[in-house]
Amino acid sequence: MKKASRFVSFEGIDFSGKTTQISLLAKRLKEKGFGVDILREPGGTPISERIREILLDKNHLEMTAISEMLLFSAARNQLVTQKVLPALQNGNFVIADRYVDSTTVYQGYGRKIDMQIINDVNRIATMGHMPSLTFFIDIDEATFQERARNTSADRLEQAGIDFFRRVREGYLELAKKEKQRIVTIDGRQTVGAIQNEIWECVTKKMHLIDEV
Ligand code: TYD
Repeated sequence: MKKASRFVSFEGIDFSGKTTQISLLAKRLKEKGFGVDILREPGGTPISERIREILLDKNHLEMTAISEMLLFSAARNQLVTQKVLPALQNGNFVIADRYVDSTTVYQGYGRKIDMQIINDVNRIATMGHMPSLTFFIDIDEATFQERARNTSADRLEQAGIDFFRRVREGYLELAKKEKQRIVTIDGRQTVGAIQNEIWECVTKKMHLIDEV
């Protein structure tokens, strides 16, 4: 059987805890001897990091939804070309802290850009390169609000609770539509419990059982 590509992405609303889980997964894979590249979006290349600064700047309140979508997508195309494809070609695992699903839900469901436009732009930005496995770490509104307290919000985090409701709904719908690729995990569990679920999925889906 052809092995699934070693491209894994993590998705979730802000404060879902995905970054912690990514570090733990990377550590575990490295302990087993695999090469691992963690890439964060927006960012991960010099051009993408500069685009990130523009996107997250609290002063850029006049940014239009379309500009936002195109900037995220430009950053992504640099990342795919400069980082994702070379890493996969070297046989490494690529773990993406957000990828194209973020544009679908934040700019599509959140900012209400037409889904046909989003899908077209996503295809252009990724050049068709999709993860074989995506973890959506889901937290409910109460957990989001609890964790959001006491943090200094960047431009996107200032968007308000209605925005985040739509984003979460978007993730839930997307996960329903793409059951083969997207695994939903209850982000209210302990860090260890979440990691165990993730590890089980990765080893199964990537056929690593005989390698670890
Ligand atoms: P970041 O500080 O990296 O947040 P997180 O740790 O939650 O990933 O900021 C990224 C923000 O950008 C986050 O609010 C989600 C948003 N985003 C989009 O709106 N569209 C996208 O395509 C991507 C990749 C991120």
